[in-house]
Amino acid sequence: MRIVVSDTALEIARQVSAILLAQVRKKPDSVLGFATGSSPLETYRLLIEAHRAGEADFSRVTTFNLDEYCSLAQDDPHSYYAFMKTQLFDPAGFSYDRVHFLSGLAEDHEATCRAYRAAIEAHGGIDIQLLGIGRNGHIGFNEPSDRFSDGPFMVQLAQSTLDANARFFENASPPRFALTMGIGDILAAKKILLIAMGDSKAQAIRAMEHGGVTPHCPASALQTHPDVTVFLDRAAARLL
Ligand code: F6R
Repeated sequence: MRIVVSDTALEIARQVSAILLAQVRKKPDSVLGFATGSSPLETYRLLIEAHRAGEADFSRVTTFNLDEYCSLAQDDPHSYYAFMKTQLFDPAGFSYDRVHFLSGLAEDHEATCRAYRAAIEAHGGIDIQLLGIGRNGHIGFNEPSDRFSDGPFMVQLAQSTLDANARFFENASPPRFALTMGIGDILAAKKILLIAMGDSKAQAIRAMEHGGVTPHCPASALQTHPDVTVFLDRAAARLL
């Protein structure tokens, strides 16, 4: 696991977006795994800038997002689909026939999860997976538990995750259930980039990097992957 500590969110975003842009220039039909949340926002902004400047073409890129809330339709402004549409896909010119999302409204969620995994495999796997990390060490919505998940599954979100994500829901509460890629899906990506910023992530980063590999800190599974780079600001790196 390589650790890169930077002074600002912009410095992190410049490095992460440069890796993603190089990948797409080298292989225009790359398969990218995306995360929602605050951590990748600045990176997405720089990808949009590159597209607007005519320096990047994302129209042939296939995407798989990590997770989606159950019970929210894609056009619900709180859905992760809506987040990606506004924060990246529309302004950066992604093609929606190449965008893949777990459907939070699926009636048969097990079939949806199996189909998602099969679709990732049918595309030859994910070239680069972008991740954030929860304060409790979750990646995707793999919450701390007694065993690592393999494929996509339905999860009950931890109270700390609901509290952390309440900021996106104004007067409503976040749904308690979500569909997420499993740890096995994340580890199958060829390359992984993780972004964490702020003091509230410092404990999770320490457990991810220094603790043993344990499902009680799901991100610790990344220790077993050969190509992970972790981008931190000084606050998130303060316990390393
Ligand atoms: C989001 C996701 C989550 C977030 C994590 C950090 O798709 O999978 O694991 O990456 O909760 O969220 P932020 O970046 O908002 O601190």
